[in-house]
Amino acid sequence: MTSFDLAASARGKHVFIAGGSSGINLGIGEVFARCGAKVSICSRKADRVAAAVETLKAAGAEAWGGAADVRNYAEVEAVLKAAKEALGPIDVLISGAAGNFVAPALGMSSNAFRTVIEIDLIGTFNVARAGFEFLRKPGASFIAISAPQALHPYAYQAHVNAAKAGVDMLTKTLAVEWGPLGVRCNAIIPGPIADTEGMARLAPTEAERKLAREGTPLQRYGSKDEIGYAALFLASPLAEYITGAILPVDGGAVLPGPGRLGDAMKQAYEKAAPRNR
Ligand code: HXC
Ligand code: NAP
Repeated sequence: MTSFDLAASARGKHVFIAGGSSGINLGIGEVFARCGAKVSICSRKADRVAAAVETLKAAGAEAWGGAADVRNYAEVEAVLKAAKEALGPIDVLISGAAGNFVAPALGMSSNAFRTVIEIDLIGTFNVARAGFEFLRKPGASFIAISAPQALHPYAYQAHVNAAKAGVDMLTKTLAVEWGPLGVRCNAIIPGPIADTEGMARLAPTEAERKLAREGTPLQRYGSKDEIGYAALFLASPLAEYITGAILPVDGGAVLPGPGRLGDAMKQAYEKAAPRNR
């Protein structure tokens, strides 16, 4: 292959996004919309869905949306069926609905823990399970939106850590089961993404945002577009041999762990002769 038009590869495809009414998920939809894809979405609140559909249309897409709570299998199935009726068989099925709040394990009730497991993990199962019937097969792909919490045990995130680790394992399992049926399954782990509800909840102060930026090797937040570009790639023919991958798109944020440069290490680095840096 000498050249490849990634944007054109999405033209005319039907992309369904669960949780697509805001944030990263809507940002993914806008990237596909700008490439000429058809985009359908669902989330709980009809007014937010309607506003997002207008945003997607303004970005160039034929767009459709319906209200559904991903915790409710019948609602998920009905909205996927309606999306297929509106825009045709689904080429790219994206599961991104999620809930989060900051609380220590001892500060969350069993119902609080269950709520996030139900939205993130069971919701992802419901979207994948119900969505399979409405996919264009072979050739469709499933993409789950995971989080760094799947890889590291963040304090005060017991519910999200457990849910997103489950999302990753579910995605890999579906890759094994659906590969022979011609459906690829991958997950994206966004790092800290600017202007999102998730980061507003996790890093509400400038001091916390600074910490998150500096803990990221590339020293900045990512953008919603950058997550959309990864989804565009995973859904494209360029990724036809990629399934079961968990792709961090995070400026390296999941890497540092205890190896992160502390102030003492930064000072040692500054003092080192340039040839040793
Ligand atoms: C302790 C809490 C709590 C808190 C809610 N609960 N907030 N417990 N601390 N701060 C408890 C409630 O008391 C209740 O338990 C249970 O959780 C369910 O709460 P409800 O309000 O009834 O749930 P619901 O209306 O379904 O709303 C779900 C929600 C809400 C998750 C609580 O915040 C929501 O709708 N979020 C969607 C948007 C969102 O979170 N976006 C960010 C995604 S970011 P009891 O026992 O009282 O009944 C993300 C990862 C980001 O996922 C990663 C960044 C790096
Ligand atoms: P967001 O804007 O709050 O997106 C969450 C979406 O899910 C909303 O559209 C919400 O709409 C919908 N939703 C919530 N509960 C639902 C339910 N039960 N059924 C159906 N839809 C539901 O948050 P975000 O920060 O952009 O996060 C988007 C995704 O990226 C999530 O999967 C999150 O875990 C992941 N992520 C985010 C970051 C970050 O930096 N923000 C980092 C890593 C991973 P309604 O309220 O209308 O239902």
